[in-house]
Amino acid sequence: MGGLSKKAYQLEKIRGLHELPYLTLDGGNLLFKQERLSPGLLRQAKIAAEGIVDSYNLMGYDAVAVGRYDLAAGLSFLQEQAAGSKFTWLSANLVNKSDEKPLFSPSVIQKAGNLSVGIIGLTEYDGSLRSLENDAAVLLPWQKVLPELVADLEAKCDLIILLSNNNPKQNEEIAESFSNIHIIIQSTPHSRNIAPQLKNNSLLAKTGKQGKYLGWMLVSWYKSKTWGRAGAVKDLALKKQELDGIIGRISRIERRENEEELAKNSSYQKLVSTRERLLSEIIFLENELYDLREEGQAPSTFENQFVALDINLPDQPDVEKIVSAVKQKVNQEGRNQAAVTSQTSSGSELMTEELVFAGWLVCAECHKAQTEFWQRTDHASAYQSLVGQDQQFNLDCLPCHVTAEYKEIKISDDETALLSLPTKLQQIGCEVCHGPGKNHAASLEASAISRKPDIAICLRCHTSERDEKFNFDNDIEKIACPAGRRSNE
Ligand code: HEC
Ligand code: HEC
Ligand code: HEC
Ligand code: HEC
Repeated sequence: MGGLSKKAYQLEKIRGLHELPYLTLDGGNLLFKQERLSPGLLRQAKIAAEGIVDSYNLMGYDAVAVGRYDLAAGLSFLQEQAAGSKFTWLSANLVNKSDEKPLFSPSVIQKAGNLSVGIIGLTEYDGSLRSLENDAAVLLPWQKVLPELVADLEAKCDLIILLSNNNPKQNEEIAESFSNIHIIIQSTPHSRNIAPQLKNNSLLAKTGKQGKYLGWMLVSWYKSKTWGRAGAVKDLALKKQELDGIIGRISRIERRENEEELAKNSSYQKLVSTRERLLSEIIFLENELYDLREEGQAPSTFENQFVALDINLPDQPDVEKIVSAVKQKVNQEGRNQAAVTSQTSSGSELMTEELVFAGWLVCAECHKAQTEFWQRTDHASAYQSLVGQDQQFNLDCLPCHVTAEYKEIKISDDETALLSLPTKLQQIGCEVCHGPGKNHAASLEASAISRKPDIAICLRCHTSERDEKFNFDNDIEKIACPAGRRSNE
């Protein structure tokens, strides 16, 4: 959610670079990070999802595929969001159980300059969809819906784009089966940026998960409707690059030597003849491409770039406004939830001896030097940082700003437990790095506590998204507690 204002900023910037018509598309899995969310998490996540739709409206998106995760709050929630969206939600294969009629638009035709672009959406199909259990909806395999749809669009459109929430293997199969789907934008989670790859006549493109990057593609689309023989275009670019280098080297030698010396310099002579050869090859290739273009057979071309949505980028002010309003709303929801949980048994249980973590005050009794050191680190005030932003009830923030988890050990499987933690756990305490220490505090056995935290512990919170510059070897120096006498010695 936080990255949206950066995304909006980058979008405006990219659009400003070219005086060209553009489409803004998303492959889906937009609203939620998982397919299944616990009811407590879902209440906050739905508020954030509404904010995402508002932001996409402002950013002027054209179409978004319905991803599997977009259904995490159920079908009717997504239908409500679609009703308030200025862009089209697309799914050709999410259909009504009884009559197999699509529940969202299967496709849409958009104008980009003088091109008619057909855009299709697909929701990941793997035979079942748990979040739809209670809804009158089913998913169909792409084999069943695409042939007719693509044939219909082909007659009306110059270019066909598929926004696919399917997995990469299925997308490759689709590319092999339809040479008239020209671009496939993928949205499967857990993967990195993938530079567009040509399969059959489809460019398969994918931007890394969860809004860390914005991918853009500059497409020159010719009548051939094919990317085939793109090699010629690449050759041309490479030869031009080589020529630039040669010209540079020639002029450096020419500045150094007089004509007599040049005449005797054999490597100079060699460079000059390479220059001549490259020049004629470039002219030949350019003519070839020109002719093909005239005949409507030139391969279409693209340039592609991934733009990082860096934390240090400026925010687009209108989207930033939406984001901060949503964060306040989420926090208020969390505050209400906390008021409820603290009255129920699960809330008060947390306050009892059952708690897995002892809390830093217990450790402080015997480890004075380390405690004093730790209190000066930002870990000790991490929860206060949330309070400072009025975000201490946001379940999207809490897991990384409190003492509630160590490796696989969690304070509770119910995330809402984080809303009513006792104050002694409202910081990144000793046990986040050293593990639960109740047994150790009772037995004083060194073996009952872990001395040095490993990198995996830090990376749970110091993710590339939150702390791009994290460097274990350097950063552990900054927070490693000093050796020191224990007060019980
Ligand atoms: C009652 C005193 C006492 C309390 C309370 C206590 N410790 Fe210790 N701690 C010790 C002693 C004594 C040792 C040294 C044990 C040894 O060297 O055999 C020790 C050792 C350690 C070590 C080093 C282990 C090693 O392998 O060298 C760590 C880390 C540690 N404690 C963390 C904690 C944390 C975290 C807490 C709070 C959950 C805590 N301690 C609570 C007395 C205490
Ligand atoms: C539970 C999440 C969490 C874990 C685990 C964690 N950190 Fe942090 N760390 C944070 C947060 C949050 C902050 C910023 C706190 C603030 O400013 O409010 C931070 C701040 C820091 C800082 C800057 C603090 C300063 O005082 O200079 C360093 C360095 C750091 N962490 C290193 C580490 C290392 C090394 C590890 C692993 C041994 C680690 N952290 C484990 C969440 C975590
Ligand atoms: C995945 C773990 C994680 C989550 C989730 C997370 N944070 Fe943090 N946060 C960190 C880490 C790590 C740092 C320290 C970064 C650094 O040292 O550069 C940090 C630092 C901070 C800081 C202090 C530094 C600053 O930027 O001023 C604030 C405030 C903060 N986070 C607020 C939030 C809020 C609000 C949320 C929820 C919307 C949130 N965090 C969610 C890990 C997290
Ligand atoms: C962000 C992670 C982190 C937190 C939080 C943290 N420590 Fe440590 N602690 C370390 C690291 C790293 C070392 C150094 C281990 C090594 O190099 O062997 C260390 C070392 C220690 C040692 C062994 C010191 C010795 O004699 O060499 C003790 C005891 C200890 N910590 C206690 C605490 C206590 C008590 C707290 C809370 C008040 C705390 N730690 C909080 C990371 C942490």
